[in-house]
Amino acid sequence: MARFMVEGGFPLRGRVMASGAKNAVLPLMAAAVLAAGEYRLVGVPRLADVEVMAEILRRLGVKVREEREGDLRCLCLDTRTMREWRIHEFLMRGLRSSIFLLGPLLGRMGEATVSFPGGCAIGPRPVDLHLQALRALGAKLDESHGCIHAQAAALTGGEVVLSYPSVGATETAIMAAVLARGETVLRGAAREPEIVDLQNFFNGLGARIRGAGTTVIRITGVERLHSMGQHCVISDRIEAGTYLLAGAISGGEVQVDGARADHLRAFLHKLVRAGVVIRENEAGITVEGTRRLQGVTLKTGPYPGFPTDLQPQISVLAALAEGESRITETVFENRLGHWNELRKLGARVLLKDRTALVAGGQLRGAKVAADDLRGGAALILAGLAAAGETVVEGSGHIDRGYENLEGKLGSLGARIRREVDEVGKLASG
Ligand code: UD1
Repeated sequence: MARFMVEGGFPLRGRVMASGAKNAVLPLMAAAVLAAGEYRLVGVPRLADVEVMAEILRRLGVKVREEREGDLRCLCLDTRTMREWRIHEFLMRGLRSSIFLLGPLLGRMGEATVSFPGGCAIGPRPVDLHLQALRALGAKLDESHGCIHAQAAALTGGEVVLSYPSVGATETAIMAAVLARGETVLRGAAREPEIVDLQNFFNGLGARIRGAGTTVIRITGVERLHSMGQHCVISDRIEAGTYLLAGAISGGEVQVDGARADHLRAFLHKLVRAGVVIRENEAGITVEGTRRLQGVTLKTGPYPGFPTDLQPQISVLAALAEGESRITETVFENRLGHWNELRKLGARVLLKDRTALVAGGQLRGAKVAADDLRGGAALILAGLAAAGETVVEGSGHIDRGYENLEGKLGSLGARIRREVDEVGKLASG
């Protein structure tokens, strides 16, 4: 019902601010329900996924209020009034990450019911590791009719060994262990910065967690958490990476304030290999693009590896570079779908299993459709570099993860606008 119209071929120049990280905020919002109190999250982006999570919390009985602190948006969550432990299937379907609520609901209410989150455009999204972690802490789980019902009069610390460093399962295990009796040792944990942020949030409330950012996390259960707290959300490394790419592939110069080089090492390393000039500074990171990008070889992997969430976007650099690129996706089964659309813009690629073999060249505008969030961002980037006009249908996918995309890109000189159908206007009005 709404699309982005992009007129490409103009180098982007200027400064843009990274928003708070979507993938940090969603688990933090869920984490807040573990205790009864008033919690304030500072730097919460206005994103479709965040609004759905806020609605789920409201239906559970949480009071959600918005405030501003300077340029930052804050969410105040009053969880004292929460009475409900069941999440309606309809809302679960709207947001895959509502599975995060299973651990905290169980910890607070002793009981939780959620429906199985479905797969998505990038492949099946199983939750077996989340459930394994909860079982290890003593939860009784019953899976039937597409629902997961969890029960535990009291969770008890235990050893959780993850066979794959799943980000979500690591967060579920931490959330369930914070108030469990005794010590939990989580081995094979994911190391993403968003997990460190979750640890910092909880420790600020009196939890005893150490080791986030490494593969072993130890959580000593505490009896209760503070009933008040405030936490500043880390910046969105994926959004920052997307704007850095926009500067790089358009041959411009872009500074992303709030971007953290220590969170983007593997990604920045590939940009440098492609011939992009990177400057780290106090406020963030600056890129200086070049008209002569070089091909890249990369494989996605769990942090600190190359982030799967930037793989579709860096595909655009590969499509424009001199020479060949080789991009392999190892985290998700089906995350090369954006190439079907990039081909419409003239990209030359051979897809083999989970690898894209790319022969760089030029792109020209065409009509394409976003099918998922990061693939959609890749199409916008491609539109910025393509000659002529590109129409990207399916703006709703992109709105899940990019706050004010057209405003931010527009402030860098991009010619991008959103077009909403009459039907869409009626629906939102
Ligand atoms: C999170 C991010 C997502 C990112 C992904 C990988 C959030 C809200 N989302 O998703 O943007 O792309 O990390 O960096 O933080 N798996 C299982 N069983 C499980 C759980 C996961 O087999 O129980 C598999 C998945 O199918 C996938 C892989 O593990 O192949 C990685 O998934 P995971 O790290 O859990 O990603 P999410 O937490 O869902």
